[in-house]
Amino acid sequence: MAANKKLLILPGDGIGVEVMIEVRRLIDWMAKNRSVSFDVDEGLVGGAAYDAHGVALSDGDLDKAMSVDAVLLGAVGGPKWDNVAREHRPEAGLLKLRKEMDLYANLRPAIVFDALAEASSLKTELVRGLDMLIVRELTGGVYFGEPKINETLADGTRRAIDTQIYTSPEIERVTRVAFELARKRGNKVHSVEKANVMETGVLWRSVVSDLHAAEYSDIELHHMYADNCAMQLVRTPKQFDVMVTDNLFGDVLSDCAAMLTGSLGMLPSASLGGADESGRRKALYEPVHGSAPDIAGDGIANPLACILSFAMCLRYSFDMGDDADMIEKAVQNVLGGGIRTSDIMQDGMARVSTTGMGEAITMELDKLT
Ligand code: IPM
Ligand code: MG
Repeated sequence: MAANKKLLILPGDGIGVEVMIEVRRLIDWMAKNRSVSFDVDEGLVGGAAYDAHGVALSDGDLDKAMSVDAVLLGAVGGPKWDNVAREHRPEAGLLKLRKEMDLYANLRPAIVFDALAEASSLKTELVRGLDMLIVRELTGGVYFGEPKINETLADGTRRAIDTQIYTSPEIERVTRVAFELARKRGNKVHSVEKANVMETGVLWRSVVSDLHAAEYSDIELHHMYADNCAMQLVRTPKQFDVMVTDNLFGDVLSDCAAMLTGSLGMLPSASLGGADESGRRKALYEPVHGSAPDIAGDGIANPLACILSFAMCLRYSFDMGDDADMIEKAVQNVLGGGIRTSDIMQDGMARVSTTGMGEAITMELDKLT
């Protein structure tokens, strides 16, 4: 028999802790009803780790993350740590995980659930049925490029430098992920950069074009400047299937795409590394939303993004697509049945707490099995 699947849960800060409890409920449900058991370990990241260890990720928890099959992360950050030095800030824990685990491909789907189409800030007809996937490069670019400096010059002028660097292998490997995923979806990729201004953009465009010509010419490929892309996202979002872009543009454009769907509280993400000899990829799954300090502790956070991140984990790390489909179906049915957390509340619907939503999902799963 195969070894148990190993999971590391890092709830992090704020509502990360609350939504992760609902994922645990789901894991327990699966052990009972689907005979899949996970070895679950738990650790600290972000402000929680800083408070306990003085760093945003301890070496012990990093070692654990490196050795498990998948990491589930809640969220990091909060005003409590605003004055902590940058290298110890909550975000540094997340960036360290991304870098050390070499999670270069960040998958951020933006899906509009039918029941929520009216919650979008755009006209319903523009977003109904939207199902796009942003593949964001996650371990390079301006986030990690050196030099990164903040200094005062001899004449008293202050100067800061960030550096955008990309190499052709970095661009090629993330583009390959996007092309492979596009083949399983709508077979269309938009590659996004600023080749009109940036040398990294020129390189990006040429590496993507070369890979396309050599191995993926069956895929419809478009090149788009990032500013135009931002405009197109709010103009006609349904023109997109898969988008591949660098770390910074991906950060910005994925927030925009997320908002199109009406609720940040609904969106999951997966961050994947390269495959080892056995085909296993290091992987981390997290909701797109942050730690939401304003509502932390109130028990009203929407756990669905975190639950859907767990579904992505089943699909990408454990090849359990049927179970992932089932969880996604349960989410759709619960929303269709009018159950809502506060963030997606609509007239005439039933408002539930974080726990209430988690229970509604497992009850729906009981019905589906
Ligand atoms: C994200 C977040 C992070 C990022 C922060 C928390 C460092 O905004 O995952 O999109 O900028 O990548
Ligand atoms: Mg972001």
